[in-house]
Amino acid sequence: MATSAKIKNKVRVLRKALADANYRYHVLDDPDIPDAEYDRLFHELLALEQAHPDLSDASSPTQRVGAQPVSRFTQIQHRVPLLSLGNAFTEQDVLDFEKRIIERLQKAGVSIDSVEFAAEPKLDGLAVSLMYRDGELIQAATRGDGQVGEDITHNIRTLRSVPLQLRGTKTPDLLEVRGEVYMPLAGFHEMNRRVTEQGGNAFKNPRNAAAGSLRQLDPRETAKRPLMIYLYGLGEVVGWNVPQTHTEVLAAMHKWGLRINPENAVVKGARGCLDYYERIAERRPSLPYEIDGIVYKVNDLALQQTLGFISRAPRWAIAHKFPAQEELTTVLDAEFQVGRTGALTPVARLQPVFVGGVTVSNVTLHNMDEIARKDIRIGDTVVVRRAGDVIPEVVSVVKSKRGANVRKIRLPARCPICDSVVAHSETESVARCTGGLTCPAQFKQSLWHFASRRALDIEGLGDKLADALVDQKLVNSVDELYTLRLESLIELERMGKKSAENLLRNIADSKETTLARFIYALGIREVGESTAAALAAHFGDIEPLINAEAEQLEEVADVGPIVAGRIREFFDNPANIKLIRSLQSLGLHWPVSKAADPENENAEVKGKTFVLTGSLSQLTRDDARALIVAAGGKVTGSVSKKTDYLVAGEKAGSKLTKAEALGTKILSETEFLGLI
Ligand code: IVH
Repeated sequence: MATSAKIKNKVRVLRKALADANYRYHVLDDPDIPDAEYDRLFHELLALEQAHPDLSDASSPTQRVGAQPVSRFTQIQHRVPLLSLGNAFTEQDVLDFEKRIIERLQKAGVSIDSVEFAAEPKLDGLAVSLMYRDGELIQAATRGDGQVGEDITHNIRTLRSVPLQLRGTKTPDLLEVRGEVYMPLAGFHEMNRRVTEQGGNAFKNPRNAAAGSLRQLDPRETAKRPLMIYLYGLGEVVGWNVPQTHTEVLAAMHKWGLRINPENAVVKGARGCLDYYERIAERRPSLPYEIDGIVYKVNDLALQQTLGFISRAPRWAIAHKFPAQEELTTVLDAEFQVGRTGALTPVARLQPVFVGGVTVSNVTLHNMDEIARKDIRIGDTVVVRRAGDVIPEVVSVVKSKRGANVRKIRLPARCPICDSVVAHSETESVARCTGGLTCPAQFKQSLWHFASRRALDIEGLGDKLADALVDQKLVNSVDELYTLRLESLIELERMGKKSAENLLRNIADSKETTLARFIYALGIREVGESTAAALAAHFGDIEPLINAEAEQLEEVADVGPIVAGRIREFFDNPANIKLIRSLQSLGLHWPVSKAADPENENAEVKGKTFVLTGSLSQLTRDDARALIVAAGGKVTGSVSKKTDYLVAGEKAGSKLTKAEALGTKILSETEFLGLI
């Protein structure tokens, strides 16, 4: 039965609507219909096409799900070879690049003193070529060796960001466009999460994932992968008056519905290139895809022609590479650092390597489990990665380079600093030095913690000074901070009289503190800032806390059996009580408040989570926190779905915005005081 004109028309309208939606979504990045509406139109079209096979069309938006698998990749000869690019690594390389261009043009009789460049990010993906005849996608190929590539038409057709049909009526008879297929970071992480969940091996990086996804014989597999494309240039063209500049070519491509990187810019001279490079480098960590540099191309196509090629790279373009984020190096040794609570952290000493813009010579290996999982040994060649401001890490061991004389990394039986026994409990993956405050490493960090901003807030007493005070034996126990004398302080390296006086004044000032700060400063394991505040509010003074039984401790919100056990352990140690008494006798004090009793509890506050932001005018943050805790509530640092109230003072910023977005109840200072 012949399909009626009405149905033909309906199919045409649906195809147009879906192609438009695709274009707006992928190319303009400005969708105008919701996903659900797209799906509805899509299924309506699919049903009509299935009922009327005579209406089938290879360019229909339904033809993205993946056709039949191919048995092998056929080879495709590129009629215009795909070139590679020369590299620039330094500023000087870029300056030289422009200089070479100017000199060469001069010889050819073109006299200019500065070159206009089209600059764009260099995507870390796979180069592909797409062929359109009369506006219809007829072929897609990989770069291959630049002369011969592989036919990946079946796979490329599954990418929603590749138009099967160019937009507009004035499309060239033949148009070959080139670009980069890549996997956006979000899709990459999501895909790896799923792969590992199903017990598979994660892809190393988005580039490998994109390559693996394009090299599938079964396009239905490729269709499941989150691939995208940006087009950046032309290949073979028939039947089009090519414009004068690269930028205009990109604009025409964009009009035809081809996806162009919106970061493209026209810049003046090598200086302009370098500014652009800096701008993008700064935003690189927040871009949704990986890039490995910037490409600069002479914008004027006639000048490109004049400049021509050298071997297989154009003279008119260059890739300015970012410092590599991954490099190979060797593990020279492994050492163990001792933290404030005695935890031993393995650290690899590396053959120094320049990666991600800095020289890395040490990298944390986190713990013994991590070392076992990655099977890292001394003498191994490893991949070190440093991306953005993230701390460097050992990604993997290059097993093929492992020599016969590698050594396993072993947990020492004794503390490398104080020689105390190292304890390794069954329940924790961490090993600890049992030396406590007799271990200089633990003591230095305890001292620094005691003085830190959220504890007793002694300005000027940072980690370096804490180390020096302990090393020079000026402070052998925390309380000795309060008996430090000017004469001995100024003996320290880089300590002038003025800063020594300031430090002594800050130390003296710290005697007037709050109970919450003092409890936090003691450095009891598992007792962070907010637990310290809760304990202070509950017990009102140090004596009831020292004497509290485990059950009484567990009455405090957030204190469970483990934390209660840690607190008891701390106060059961006579050395700790001696220290507290000594600090008290040296003048440390805090306002004593009435211990919280059930009558103080406030039903609207009890069990609720508060976040404080902005500056409060009638009370300090500490006071506000104490009030909340005394009434049975809890204070956390950041707004999440679990936050019940945001107390917003003057000049509240991002926390307020987030709370508004989440629909969290927001209280002004006055409203808060009313509630409390
Ligand atoms: S232009 C003749 N632009 O980099 C110039 N290439 O090292 C041809 N690449 O194989 C390349 N992003 O896969 C150009 N915005 C961009 C690019 C880019 C990534 C890749 C491309 C090429 C390689 C050259």
